Amino acid sequence: MAVGILLVGGFGTRLMPLTKNTPKPMLTVAGLPVTEHQLAMAKKAGITTVVLATSYLSEVFIPYFGDGSKWGMNLLYAVEKEPLGTGGAIRNATKLLTGDESIVVFNGDVLSSHNLSQQIQDHEANNADVTLHLTTVDDARAYGCVPTDSAGRVTAFLEKMDNPVTNTINAGCYVFKASVVTAIPEDTVISVERQIFPELVEKHGRVFGFIDDSYWLDIGTPTALLKGSVDLVSGAAKALALTPQMIQSHSPQSLIMKGATVDATAVIDGGSSIGIGAVIGQGAHITGSIVEAGAKIGKAAVVTNSFVAAGAQILDSAQISTSFVTNLKIFPIPQ
Ligand code: GTP
Repeated sequence: MAVGILLVGGFGTRLMPLTKNTPKPMLTVAGLPVTEHQLAMAKKAGITTVVLATSYLSEVFIPYFGDGSKWGMNLLYAVEKEPLGTGGAIRNATKLLTGDESIVVFNGDVLSSHNLSQQIQDHEANNADVTLHLTTVDDARAYGCVPTDSAGRVTAFLEKMDNPVTNTINAGCYVFKASVVTAIPEDTVISVERQIFPELVEKHGRVFGFIDDSYWLDIGTPTALLKGSVDLVSGAAKALALTPQMIQSHSPQSLIMKGATVDATAVIDGGSSIGIGAVIGQGAHITGSIVEAGAKIGKAAVVTNSFVAAGAQILDSAQISTSFVTNLKIFPIPQ
């Protein structure tokens, strides 16, 4: 049995101003916070104890997730006063864990349908120090790439380059041997990607890649956040967290959560999701968009490829496209 750590303490600057009051992992995709989708994935792989490694806006998580019993999980919270970087966050979270089970670390902004159970099994069969999920991208120039040898061992962590030597990249889900995590210095700002992994490879540590090209998306940019939600609604990504009890209606075109009020003449399509308590007026048309819990869309309004945050109101007949709408203002999404 493995335990989990979810890294949810980053500032989410690329999603400002949505992340001004809501940490990125608590933003809604397909009716639920990103974190809830990730916890469902962890649970499917048999992980029930998870530490949320929080820092920025740490207070937002506990009121929603509590002790996790609602999900049949045991959730714990580690808080960094100042963000410790990914390595420091993992070390800090481990203080709440006992035992020597494998530790599975998830970046809190990734939607992935990869075979996590197999990743854990391979890690243990290889007696690895760390096993990283790697995914293949068409063009690795925007990422650092991670080459492996014929036995699956990682041979290097390479920075972004014009001619990447491979198109496999770090997908942000790691299985660690517990002793490797406890060897990270305590209360120190340190990055796993930039420091710990490259150093382990250099010292011939047993660092393995688990290549799995199932659905994978880093939702850290505005366009990706919307795409992630649409993919969960359409079925391109597995929406394990959604249960029939939560849903009023669901098709590949739209997801309407229970407790939303959608006028019978409104059209919801393009993989849009409508959150609990949202109100959609007569003749409104919502396409390719996320409407968070409690947001209100006026009559005959047209909302396209946009994120309407909780508490926002869109006036009758308004035309909103490629924007973030908060309770204060409308912000165009940079393309
Ligand atoms: P940007 O500011 O837009 O780059 O987003 P970010 O702050 O989330 O950074 P990034 O996407 O690189 O982080 C990857 C994951 O690690 C996210 O889930 C973050 O929440 C998390 N993370 C990054 N830095 C820290 C940290 O110092 N502490 C904790 N607990 N989590 C972190």
